[in-house]
Amino acid sequence: MIETPFNYTGSKFKLLEQLLPVFDYTKPYFVDVFAGGGSVYTNVVDKYQKLIVNDIITDLIGIHQNLTLDDSIIKETKELCPNKNNPLGFAELRNSYNDSPTPSKLWALMLSSTNNMMRFNQKFKYNQTYGDRGWNANTDKKVETFVNHIRQYKENIKFISKPFDQIPVSSDKIMFYCDPPYGRIKNEDGTIGKKQISEAGYNAFWKEDDDKRLYDYLHLINEKGSSFMVSGVLKHDSKVCWMLDKLISDGFKCKELNFDYNKVSRKGEKETLEIIITNY
Ligand SMILES: C[S@@+](CC[C@H](N)C(=O)[O-])C[C@H]1O[C@@H](n2cnc3c(N)ncnc32)[C@H](O)[C@@H]1O
Repeated sequence: MIETPFNYTGSKFKLLEQLLPVFDYTKPYFVDVFAGGGSVYTNVVDKYQKLIVNDIITDLIGIHQNLTLDDSIIKETKELCPNKNNPLGFAELRNSYNDSPTPSKLWALMLSSTNNMMRFNQKFKYNQTYGDRGWNANTDKKVETFVNHIRQYKENIKFISKPFDQIPVSSDKIMFYCDPPYGRIKNEDGTIGKKQISEAGYNAFWKEDDDKRLYDYLHLINEKGSSFMVSGVLKHDSKVCWMLDKLISDGFKCKELNFDYNKVSRKGEKETLEIIITNY
């Protein structure tokens, strides 16, 4: 399994062993609708003829795309990265990114942020704090492994950056993998709540009606005869995810994943239940 050089919040790297056997390999095309750190497309790229890799964060897609082309983004990011003991350098970089964003500035920020985690405020400005870290020998190793692998397939991958439902469902030959941000909770009366089931630094990009739009999008994929897999947290403490719950009651197949952050509460129940739902 290839690990991508981003320590991305919500990365599916640790779950790949459970996801990879479940994808529909009878389809020739794969769409990673919410690509994030890219651990999924990177590890199925040799199984499909053509892939689309999408994420709403344009500079994140820029990082992925530039890495498949040549080493220039690696050089630029190394030069931009404030590394250790340089909080002022970090603050300057963050201001510079928020004034005129580029993929290399975003990558340098991610590498030097607290826990390597990106975070944006409601105005889509980068607001994560300095993590007293940067580009290190481990980054070099991960980058080398990643680019050596992904560049072999660069002709087969198209990188795009759109809200998920602008990706056309054009045929019955596509495997859509959807790993959206945490979904909104189900209210007691069954309606969609305002709050998301948990927090992530990219929650600002998940609009209030996106859960319903994703629900409709998955039904469209199903009606067109293509395949989908959607992953997410069905339950967290006593909260239930509206969209996943509704897809299960519609009759789609659901599989529980084992994850080491499944903590057991005092009552012995799982606090976080992570699942995948498929239409095949
Ligand atoms: C859970 S993460 C995906 C993690 C990824 N599977 C991985 O292994 O790293 C969800 C991603 O959805 C993206 N996103 C949020 N809103 C979106 C939207 N409306 N359309 C497309 N992507 C969106 C976020 O930027 C984030 O990268």
